[in-house]
Amino acid sequence: MKTEKFKIIKLPKISDPRGNLTFIEGDQHVPFTIKRVYYLYDVPGGAERGGHAHKELKQLPISTIGTFDVLLDDGSQKKTISLNRSYNGLLIDNMVWREINNFSSGSVCMVLASEYYDEDDYYREYSDFIKNIKE
Ligand code: TYD
Repeated sequence: MKTEKFKIIKLPKISDPRGNLTFIEGDQHVPFTIKRVYYLYDVPGGAERGGHAHKELKQLPISTIGTFDVLLDDGSQKKTISLNRSYNGLLIDNMVWREINNFSSGSVCMVLASEYYDEDDYYREYSDFIKNIKE
């Protein structure tokens, strides 16, 4: 995979015997301005999310609770990354196909996003994504 199409970003972690604390400050810890936050939760066993790429959107999923796997595909290489720490975010650039699966019971996937929701920004067909990335 070409460099910088995705990478783990380590967020600040304040360790404390009363429970750990992680924080994210706008324009400080994430290399885009956060315009939207959404989260996946109550995911039933065996379910798969994602299955699309974005034309412009950059995202940073974080496993705030539990674990899940993110399959990344830039059109030439594929890689699967497991997210299982609340202080790790996975920076995903635009034009990367992603599938999310293997959610552990009760897990929560929180996603920071660089743009408001826009259905026109999606490639929902893998063949469309491949066609456009090769152009
Ligand atoms: P989608 O991005 O396809 O979810 P996933 O990739 O996790 O399967 O979104 C599912 C539905 O939710 C779709 O109808 C669009 C809607 N949606 C919003 O309205 N706002 C949002 O911020 C997101 C992420 C999705």
